[in-house]
Amino acid sequence: MANGKKVRTLGVLTGGGDCPGLNAVIRAIVLTAEREGVRVQGIRNAYSGLIHQQFTELDSSKVDHLLQYGGTMLGSSNRDNPFQFMMTIDGEHRAVDVSETVIKNFHQAGLDGLIAIGGDGTLKITHKLTQMGLPAVCVPKTIDNDLLATDVTFGFDTAVGIATEAIDRIRTTAESHGRLMVVEVMGRNAGWIALFSGLAGGADVILIPEIPFSLQAIVNEIRSDRSAGKNFSIIVVAEGARQKDGEVVVKKMVDDPTEPRRLGGIGNVVGQLLEDETGYETRATVLGHIQRGGTPSTYDRNLSTRFGVHAARCAIEGKFGHLVALQKGLIELVPLAEAAEGQRLVSPDSDFIRVARSVGISFGDEL
Ligand code: F6P
Repeated sequence: MANGKKVRTLGVLTGGGDCPGLNAVIRAIVLTAEREGVRVQGIRNAYSGLIHQQFTELDSSKVDHLLQYGGTMLGSSNRDNPFQFMMTIDGEHRAVDVSETVIKNFHQAGLDGLIAIGGDGTLKITHKLTQMGLPAVCVPKTIDNDLLATDVTFGFDTAVGIATEAIDRIRTTAESHGRLMVVEVMGRNAGWIALFSGLAGGADVILIPEIPFSLQAIVNEIRSDRSAGKNFSIIVVAEGARQKDGEVVVKKMVDDPTEPRRLGGIGNVVGQLLEDETGYETRATVLGHIQRGGTPSTYDRNLSTRFGVHAARCAIEGKFGHLVALQKGLIELVPLAEAAEGQRLVSPDSDFIRVARSVGISFGDEL
């Protein structure tokens, strides 16, 4: 029931950067809703679809095959914020608040509730829209795993698996040539992908945004490995990592008033500095969007399905204004006001970091 009214039609959209498992969530929502006699309208390209009224009716025949497919059948965008929507008006390109249009078009489409699947940007936008009366439920996604309200987001496990496999492959060529190999992974301001894949891949050095590094500390680590007879080193670096007193490396600026910076390039910077400093031949590999594409892992398929089923039930029961989250193995409902705040970063004092240090991994912070 939404405001005492029975929920008959739900809208679903995917916002932010895509990640493996989005389609599995959409599928679970549609299959659950259909069994309850509730219709589902897919909204194309995140909130842009509500602004431009781009809908597609979904039923089991359209989603049943989607469990294994990466990406999102609805399309997504990580720059269409209705509160700062970029438009060209009278020849001037500027940000305009079109949030009222979103609410109007939502009602005009005959929707009784919205399920928004997205990361921190989508959560914040949806929370603001719920304060304007939009009945919505959110589902947490992102390969970065940086949402505070949930223990884990879907997409993360797949991205870590891809990065770990890449590190394994890089290891054999590193060993053959006796090289330093730098592997740059995604994660924005969070070091989760670097930490998990670096530990699983047996990296020698892991550089994360939460622990600024010194070049000298890495050089010392490499030299000590060489003295001990190891002829190669693997350095995993998160795209958001930076030197002590240094800045993050920005790959490009995009037309996004909320967060225009796209990170990337630190891997090549670190690689060149290390080669210059040590004299060892070095290569850098930037994994980039490979981490976001393709088949979701078993874990992500199942987490996505759990999130999708619970989000659909929550919306059908009219429990709007919540994020479905995984907490201690259970799916819980977290109020959006709480869920939209903060960012989940790696704590430098966490057990994970201590474990990594105990097996000899350097974070480039100890001289
Ligand atoms: O948030 C997911 C993510 O893949 C980040 O890890 C990365 O910094 C960013 O999106 C890349 O964005 P884009 O797809 O716009 O290059």
